[in-house]
Parts: sequence; structure tokens; C-alpha cells
Amino acid sequence: MRPSTPPTIRLVDYQQPAFWIEKVNLKFALHPTATKVTSEITFHANADRGDGPHDLRLDGRDLKLIHASIDGRDLADDEVLCDAEGLSVPADLVPQEGFTWRCTVEINPEGNTALEGLYMSNGMYCTQCEAQGFRKITYYLDRPDVMARFNVKIEGEAPVLLSNGNKINHGSWQDPWPKPAYLFALVAGELEVVEDQFTTRSGRDVVLQIFVRKGDEDKCDYAMDALKRSMRWDEEHYGREYDLDLFMIVAVDDFNMGAMENKGLNIFNSRLVLATPETATDANYKAIEAVIAHEYFHNWTGNRITCRDWFQLCLKEGLTVFRDQKFSGDMRSHSVQRIEDVLTLRARQFPEDAGPLSHPVRPEEYIEINNFYTATVYEKGAEVIGMLKRLVGDETYRAACDLYFERHDGQACTIEDWIRVFEDVSGQDLTQFKLWYQQNGTPVVSVDEDFSQGTYRLTLRQDADASGHRIDKAAQVIPVMTGFLDTDGSEPLPEQCLILDAAEKTFVFEGLTAKPVVSLLRGFSAPVILDHTMDSDQRMFLFKHDSDTFNKWEAGRGIALDLLCDMARGQLVKGANFADALRTIALDGALDPNFRALMLTLPSEDAIAVHMGHLGAVPDPEAIHRARHDLKKTIAKQLASDLPELFAAMRVRGPYSPDADAAGRRALRLAALGLLSLLDDCAAAQDLYWGADNMTEQFAALSILISAGKGADAIDAFYKQWKDEGLVLDKWFAIQAGTTPPEAALDVVRALGEHGDFNWKNPNRFRSLIGGFATAPASFHRADGRGYEFVADWLIKLDALNPQTTARMCGVFGTWKRYDKKRQTLISTQLRRIQKTPTLSKDTGEIIGKLLA
Ligand code: PHE
Ligand code: ZN
Repeated sequence: MRPSTPPTIRLVDYQQPAFWIEKVNLKFALHPTATKVTSEITFHANADRGDGPHDLRLDGRDLKLIHASIDGRDLADDEVLCDAEGLSVPADLVPQEGFTWRCTVEINPEGNTALEGLYMSNGMYCTQCEAQGFRKITYYLDRPDVMARFNVKIEGEAPVLLSNGNKINHGSWQDPWPKPAYLFALVAGELEVVEDQFTTRSGRDVVLQIFVRKGDEDKCDYAMDALKRSMRWDEEHYGREYDLDLFMIVAVDDFNMGAMENKGLNIFNSRLVLATPETATDANYKAIEAVIAHEYFHNWTGNRITCRDWFQLCLKEGLTVFRDQKFSGDMRSHSVQRIEDVLTLRARQFPEDAGPLSHPVRPEEYIEINNFYTATVYEKGAEVIGMLKRLVGDETYRAACDLYFERHDGQACTIEDWIRVFEDVSGQDLTQFKLWYQQNGTPVVSVDEDFSQGTYRLTLRQDADASGHRIDKAAQVIPVMTGFLDTDGSEPLPEQCLILDAAEKTFVFEGLTAKPVVSLLRGFSAPVILDHTMDSDQRMFLFKHDSDTFNKWEAGRGIALDLLCDMARGQLVKGANFADALRTIALDGALDPNFRALMLTLPSEDAIAVHMGHLGAVPDPEAIHRARHDLKKTIAKQLASDLPELFAAMRVRGPYSPDADAAGRRALRLAALGLLSLLDDCAAAQDLYWGADNMTEQFAALSILISAGKGADAIDAFYKQWKDEGLVLDKWFAIQAGTTPPEAALDVVRALGEHGDFNWKNPNRFRSLIGGFATAPASFHRADGRGYEFVADWLIKLDALNPQTTARMCGVFGTWKRYDKKRQTLISTQLRRIQKTPTLSKDTGEIIGKLLA
């Protein structure tokens, strides 16, 4: 059993291992409950340590050791000291120069409900080793700085036996590229394969294979297409080619995360591979494209160059997210992509950074590394790369990346290595920039303006954020893209990138005839909170005239947020001006339909709660829900005569295509339908539901009907139509949990929790129902606290089987301190109840401990 207080691991304690590993031979004799793994590992001394002699210390968890030997000599029971975290062989039995370790262990894939290590999903064997799952397969130096060559032999009945690298013969694999154990993978089962081919720009022919369960072969076209586009894009934009003759993807139904970049053998949550027009929405297609690219891009940013230790996780994740965002932008629309990325950042990372789970992009300590696959490491990590690129310029960025690949290929690196290539190529000192990796919290940038006699002074300040996280922090380097507008909408000065690298800085602009309207932080050039007091006329002016699409959207959103906050605080407001400006944009045929759809989508209830917090008010989730509904209705009325036409005009004719243009038109069409439904008693939504020939429209119509309380028939029909399609059934659970009106939601999710198809051990299904409910603020935060109790019950139940997914989902309580005292008491009662669970995992224990601290 684990010790009562699990140890904290610290970056400052990093030490190289006493031994390196050259080669690993693994043999698997597969059996559902008793798989035997035999390993033969060649170790040699780490000359840099010079502080021996060393015991042999190997990581291992839940392993049954059957046999071990060193250099062919069997080790007796008392020569191998096993404990809960691994084993040790005393130094005097370990040839210090180098030796061959052999051992056989037995493991139980079927009993592995945590989905880390080797486990079974629907009768198929698969692995998940990042971050520390390999130690559940065999004893090893399970740390990313130990890179070795792997040979793998799999014995089993299954017709498909896969591992990393090149296939030697059935069940036998060799990976020529040294890799850390977290990139190891094995898959075995009755799988079908969909095959294609790609020729790299230097002429290497690569076989591309996607493995799926029988019956899913026709759902891989889009993933395959996205893979080929990703491979080409990485060649064109980063000069990176694929480096094996085979690239495989496997779709797995039970998976804790999205997907995993194992060398040559990516393993995917099936929801991020499988799609047909009838079963997947436009959003699903977009996610598939992004994640296929993300995992493929890891081949260079993550695999060829990996992380020295897990504190450096953002080295591969931030960079790879940045790369997949740019890829998606190139495939679709950069301005829409930017807005969506910022929406995600604000929805997930800003709250994380403002609450008890806040940590730097490069954390300095952890208890359980699985808890650090966060929005901060991923999304803020990507923003930091974007700022770096902006600061050094596009060409220098590319040159620095080239140098990074050249200098560090085959190595396990740190953020220092990454920063250094930029310093070497640009000649800039990036010491201060590095604070973005070291300091947590979201900087708040506030603004003062002064205009006299043709001189415009703009003063920018960076301050502690509202949560106080940034008190005593050093000033960071904040690039603020800035535009200047005249009253006629023209720009008297060129756009500039102002660098705020002190607590306060004043920028002076001469020769202006009038005070300009300033457009700050264009393109969201830094992940900060901009505290720029503007009156509604100024906002409206930017909403109508800003040439920067991001700031145009941002201005509209700012107006909506102000209105919604006032409404949620019970003030009578008239949204007519705003609705009128929205109408102009919604009907502007010169604008991208996707952008227009984003404009018509009001800020989420959570975003409204955050904004109220910034204004010093305590959010009331029910009042926010009502306010949002009321403003939607105001907008709908203002657009009443346009909506039916817009809805009809945006219809996409011909066979369904998931491309950006068609998806953008559907998005606008469905945004119009959402508004129209508030006026026509859902008549058009009913028609669309019963007549839809694609999931995007069917699902959007279902959502509208459920949120209006008119979904009963459609819910039944949807179930009957899709009960055999697991991924569609996930949607059925999620949409009811997330959009049922707050008064009814708890009863609905309780009943669904008893449904025969609620297979709660499947992470996708669990997240759909429990996560769907917990991310609907007015339902989850119901005043009597029964929403909290319901979620806590399920988290306690899941923790016993799957700590990783449970701990992640505890994040739904991360914003608890923003609510009123009564709710805070109700929540902390539930958090304490979870904390008292006798068998609580280290994963969940760490998160709950922080939430309560
Ligand atoms: N490395 C994976 C990715 O971001 C995420 C992951 C982490 C998957 C841990 C599984 C377990 O692409
Ligand atoms: Zn990743």
C-alpha cells in the first residue's frame, strides 16, 4: 500500500541515472489475466556520475516478479528487494561498468482498470505508457532521459500483433530509434486495417495504416486524409520528414486521454479517429484533424527530441499544440482558429491559473505527474511559443527551430535548451522572457491614455491578478499588438507590437490630429487579462470598424459580457443597440460565415461568471442562466424577420463535406436556428431534427429541443437510432446532461446513471454524463448542493478503478471559491467527503488536497 503521504517530486532534485540503457529485448506471452513479460536489458555505467558504487534501482508497480538474473547469474529471493515502487539489487551484486539484466514478470491486463500499462479494451490488448505506465509492464528505468533501442516479440493468438518501429515478421518488431519507455506501445487483437501510402519529399515511401474494430473500416477516411496533410505540412513548415517505413494508428474505445504519440504506433481514443457524416459532427471532424496532426507532429517535437524529465512536459506539449493550431489555421481559417483557441484558453486555462490548481507552465514540483497534463502546460505553453515567435520574427523562429532539431536530435532536453537556440540565433537575451515558464498566474494589463497637442501617450501596466497570485512577481515580457483608429475607421499609424517588459511603460506617439481609438492586444498577442476601461460607444466603434478580426470579435464579446453581467445582477438593460450591430454582422455576406456564427454565439455561462468576478461581483449561476436566455431572446426578436432567411440561405446542398466552408455555413445556419427557436416554438428545429441527414444538424437540433424542454420524442428516437454506436451514444448522454433545463437536470442525470448503457467504467461514457452535468453551471451549482453530492458520489466510485480520469474530473470543483459562502460550504463538505475515502488514490488525493488548501 502507498505511504500515507506520497512524496513530492522536485525539479531542483533532478539527477542523472546511475546507469544508462543501451538495448531492450522484450518478449510478451499474452494472456488476459496472466501475461508474462520477459525483458533483457543492457545497462552501462553513466560516466558523468562518478559517485558509485550504485545499487540497481528499477521502477515497477503491480508486477509479480518470477525470475531475475544479472549477466546470466540467477538472483536469489533475498538478493532482490521488492517494494511498492520497484526493486533494488545491492551494489555489490551489480557489475558497475555494465551488465545484462534479465527478468520475467507476470501482469494482469484484464484486471487493469486504471488504463495505464498493458490493459484490455473490448477484448483487445493495448498499452498506455506516458507518463509512468511502463513500470506497470516490467521493471525498468521509467524516466524520459533514459533512451534505448527496443526489440519486441509478441506471442499470442490474435491476428494483429503490433509494436513500435519496423515489422520483422508476425509479432516481431524492431525500433531503430532510441526512445524513452513512455513511447513504447503494444497492441494485439482482432483488428481490421485501412491502408494508404505517403511519399516523403525525399522520396521515402511510407505505408500508413489505421487499425479499427470490424465494422469501423468505413469511418477512417477523414483521419487518413488528415494524416497525409499533416505529414506534408510538417515538411513544408518545419522541414521535418517522417523517419520510418510504416506509420500506424490504432483506435481504442477505453482511453483516459485523447491520443498518444507512441513511436510509429499512435494510439487514439476512438472518438478522435472514427467519423462518418451520419455519426460525427463538424466539431468532431475538426478535432480529429487537429489531434491526428498533434500526435503526428510529436514525432519530432517529443519523440526525436524528448523531455529530460517530466517538469519539461511543456517542451513537447506547448510546442506541439502551437504547431497543431497553426496547421488547423492553414487548413481552415486563421482568424476563426485564433478566436477558438482563445475561447479554449479562457475557458480552461485562465480559471485554472486563477484558482487553487494554478502552476507555472513548467511546474517545479508534483506528487502525481498525471495531474500535470493541464491547460496551463498545453494551452498556455502554446501561447508562450506564439509570443516567442512574435518577438523574434518568423524567419528567426524558423532558423531557431532548425537549430533545435539539428543540435538536439536524439536527446532528452530542457526548456533551457529550447530558449538557448533562440538566444543563439537571435542574439537576444531571453532571461526575462523565460519568466513565462517560471511564474504562474495570468498578468493583468491595465491602460492609461492621454492626448494633448498632437501627442498621444499610452501607459501600460502589468499587475497582480484579482486572485492575488501575482503579488510579488517580476515583470514579464508582454508583446501587445496595437492598432490606432480614427473616427472614420481609418488607421493613422501602422499597427505596432509594443513590448511591455517593465511594471509600467509609457509609449509616445506624435503627429496625430485627434485622439485615436486604440485597439490593444490584437490577435490576442499575449495570454493576459486586458483591463481597458472603455465606454460602450468606444466598444461599439471597434466592434463595427476594427480591421483586426480578433479584436472585432472581442469588442462584441465585451459588450455582450457587460450586458449579461448587468442583467444577471437584476438590472434592466436594453440590448437593442448591440442586437442591431450583431444583425449587421450576421447578415454581412462579405464576412466568413464561421466568424458570423461565432459572433452570434453568446459568451458561455462560465465566461459570464468569470467576468462578474472581474467586476467584483459574486456570480449567481441561476441568474446567469436566465440572463443569457433573455439576451438571446432580445437578439432573436431584433433579427426576427431575418432569421428564417438566414437559416435557409446557409443550407449546404449536395452531399455532406466536413470542409471549413461547409462547416462554417452550417455553423451560421444552426446559430440562426438557435435564435429562431425562441420565436417559433421550436417548429424549425423539430423539422430539422426529423429531416436531418447528418449528425451536425441532427445533434444541434436535438440540443435546441432539449434546452427548450421539448426534446422527449427526439431523445427516444435518437436512442433507438443509435443505440449500437458507442460514440453517438456518448453524445446522447452528454447532451441530456449538459442542456436539460437546470430544474430538471439532476433528475435526468440520476436516471441516466441507472441506464443500462451507462457503462461508467468507460472514460468517454463517464465524462459524457458526469462531466456533461458538472460543466453545466446552473445545474451543477443548484443551490441545495445536491448537484455537488451527485458528482462526488460518482468520483468516489470511479477513483477506486481509474484514478487518472477521476483526478482530472475533480477539476470541475476548481472554481469553487468564486461562489457564495453557502455554496462554498456545500462544496467543501463534498471535497472533504472525497478526501476521507480510505482508498483514495494519490492522483485524486493531490488534487483534492490542493482544492482544499
Ligand atoms: N502525450 C499525449 C498528447 O498530448 C497525451 C497523453 C498523456 C496521453 C498521458 C495519454 C497519457 O498527445
Ligand atoms: Zn501532445
